[in-house]
Amino acid sequence: MGIHIERTERIWIRVAFAILVFFLAVVTTAAVVDGLVPPSHIQSIDPTKVSETPPFDKPGLRKVGEGAYEAYYVARIFSFAPNQIDVPAGSHVTFYVTSADVEHGFSVPETGVNTMVTPGWVSAVSHTFKTPGTFLLICNEYCGAGHQVMAAKVVVH
Ligand code: CUA
Repeated sequence: MGIHIERTERIWIRVAFAILVFFLAVVTTAAVVDGLVPPSHIQSIDPTKVSETPPFDKPGLRKVGEGAYEAYYVARIFSFAPNQIDVPAGSHVTFYVTSADVEHGFSVPETGVNTMVTPGWVSAVSHTFKTPGTFLLICNEYCGAGHQVMAAKVVVH
């Protein structure tokens, strides 16, 4: 005994199925795109050519205006270059960070500075250092045997 389905019902079943497929496609695409491009990643870079790619060929601090700095960092197992930067209190610092090898973290725990550092991408994060002090900059993403010693300093005078 066959089940008789009206022509209009068949059309509606197809429409419902098409809508389902469409939404699945949208959700899947969004997940894949978000996974490949984390929101703080602004720019891509060849991770095998970091040491030849400006401005990461010369990591360090650049003054870009009154109380405004840009700091370019290269993360690699198991250190940050530069190892230390010095800025006056009140400075607004934008950190640009990339990795020359594996996934690292970039965190100044006493501030809001916290980003992942993914090979192939440049992460950017800003902070205004209002009070003098020595701030520890750490890798907070497990990257191998020397992960726990991977650190640098931000000194605010
Ligand atoms: Cu680099 Cu953990």
